[in-house]
Amino acid sequence: MSAIIINIMKKWVILVLIGPLLMMLACQEVEPPNFTQPEATAQPSPPNPEPVPAPMPLPPSLTDAGEFFFSNCASCHGINREGNVGPVLTPESLAALSDAEVKDAILNGRRGTLMPAWKDSLTDEEVDALIQLVRYTSP
Ligand code: HEC
Repeated sequence: MSAIIINIMKKWVILVLIGPLLMMLACQEVEPPNFTQPEATAQPSPPNPEPVPAPMPLPPSLTDAGEFFFSNCASCHGINREGNVGPVLTPESLAALSDAEVKDAILNGRRGTLMPAWKDSLTDEEVDALIQLVRYTSP
């Protein structure tokens, strides 16, 4: 009698030990396709946004001017030139000024205001690029 019970118990032990192992193997086989499928669907999508990357093909000097503006002017004139402690700098807001007056403001600053003079830190080309930026391109 006891030998039969031991035999039955051995079978159960084998089932209890191997059962979970088989289930783990089965799960491992099922999961990878779930992970690879999103990648497989994610890969075909990049071709769609391809026509979009056409961000303003500005001449290099103007791109630099944008970077320069971001680092040196945006604190006072706003990241999008919307104005802050300094006035708005857009083609519309500067329409009343000539290029020469804008250049003078940048080169010599505005005495008695926070607007600093940039003539010692910018080349003529860089100032011209900044004038192009603030006077002839919309933010
Ligand atoms: C510390 C603050 C500050 C910084 C930095 C600054 N500005 Fe100004 N800016 C001013 C202020 C204030 C005025 C207004 C001066 C006035 O009342 O005449 C001004 C005026 C101007 C004007 C004349 C606008 C107008 O309508 O009369 C121009 C152009 C200008 N800034 C360009 C720039 C550029 C380009 C830079 C970066 C190279 C720059 N500013 C950096 C504060 C600043």
